[in-house]
Amino acid sequence: MAYPAQVEWRKERLVEVLRREGGFRELPPVEAVPMEDPWGYRSKMEFSFGQDGDRVTLGLHERASFRRIVDIVSCPIAPPAVSDLLLAIKQAVNQFQLTAYNPKIHQGFWRYAVIRASLKTGGLMLLLVTNEGSREPLDALARELPRAVPQLASFWWGVSARVSDVAQPERLMHLAGSEVLEDGVGKIRFEVRPTNFVQPNLLLTGQIYEAIREAAALTGQEAVYDLYCGTGLIALILAERARAVVGVESEAENVASASRNAALNGITNVSFLGGKVEDLLRGRSLFKAGPRPSLIVVDPPRAGLHKEVYGPLLQAAAPRILYLSCNPVSLARDLKVLRERDSSLQVEKVTLFDFFPHTAHLEVLVSLRRG
Ligand SMILES: C[S@@+](CC[C@H](N)C(=O)[O-])C[C@H]1O[C@@H](n2cnc3c(N)ncnc32)[C@H](O)[C@@H]1O
Repeated sequence: MAYPAQVEWRKERLVEVLRREGGFRELPPVEAVPMEDPWGYRSKMEFSFGQDGDRVTLGLHERASFRRIVDIVSCPIAPPAVSDLLLAIKQAVNQFQLTAYNPKIHQGFWRYAVIRASLKTGGLMLLLVTNEGSREPLDALARELPRAVPQLASFWWGVSARVSDVAQPERLMHLAGSEVLEDGVGKIRFEVRPTNFVQPNLLLTGQIYEAIREAAALTGQEAVYDLYCGTGLIALILAERARAVVGVESEAENVASASRNAALNGITNVSFLGGKVEDLLRGRSLFKAGPRPSLIVVDPPRAGLHKEVYGPLLQAAAPRILYLSCNPVSLARDLKVLRERDSSLQVEKVTLFDFFPHTAHLEVLVSLRRG
């Protein structure tokens, strides 16, 4: 499908889902923000190793298959250096007598190659995840790969013996280059560590944050909450024109990076709390302990808001809520519940950011106001 037709298709799909699942009879017009160049945009790719006879392959899962890996030679939705690194890794791992991890029998060594790219520096971070085993092949790769791909700025080894198919290692070891990848969006500088959350589209993220800043329309007096804040970038961008910003995030590594990112940018009116949003909001405890919210930003994972979040979120009575979502189905469900429980809540604006060209996915920002 040609790119402009894709954007139209994703927009129609979003409107259909909001009508069907969100119970909207009338929707404000949905604006779509396409990419100027819909290639080379991914900031993170998670490749999996496979085995084809004697050869170790590296690519992506075949659709709906846990075991079959499509061996790929280039990935045009990621920056070209990512494909260079993919090929260099594939070549390098085949010099050892080690096989790819086989999820059926839980044997084999090579598991995942997670590659992150910095928009600011063009540098790459590699997290190579293996089963338990010798460090020797990794030390050899740490010597070879930066020579083969000079953009490789940071190389980590992760060990995972877990059965589930997720690239989350139990142990991490830094092997070469710097420990963090430096990046930046707008005026904000930030660090990327090997298991940090990063927004997956390098090129449009700045525009989403700008849209959030505009929709927030802060004056400098407000208390803002950034729920599901990842490494804190929305909080940091809003802090410039807020009295205080509180971020909440469940993953300890993201919380630590968020605090370091605040220090890196000399921002002092933000604080980041580690924990699950549903736990910290229970009984509205977070809002009772902190300043009364003028604006609440939520950016949950694909599953959307936990059902225990609806009540405290509404009782906080913030005049504005901004909901950033990567899943229109959970977004529609959440909007339906929130509007059914509080009829004064109105959807002011829906913006589709075309974050994932050439896929069925999309990112949406919804601006809600208490009428
Ligand atoms: C879509 S990301 C948000 C990213 C962030 N707003 C940004 O722009 O970089 C969702 C984040 O929610 C975190 N998360 C997932 N479940 C959570 C929960 N129950 N409570 C708090 N944070 C959670 C994830 O670790 C992830 O960092």
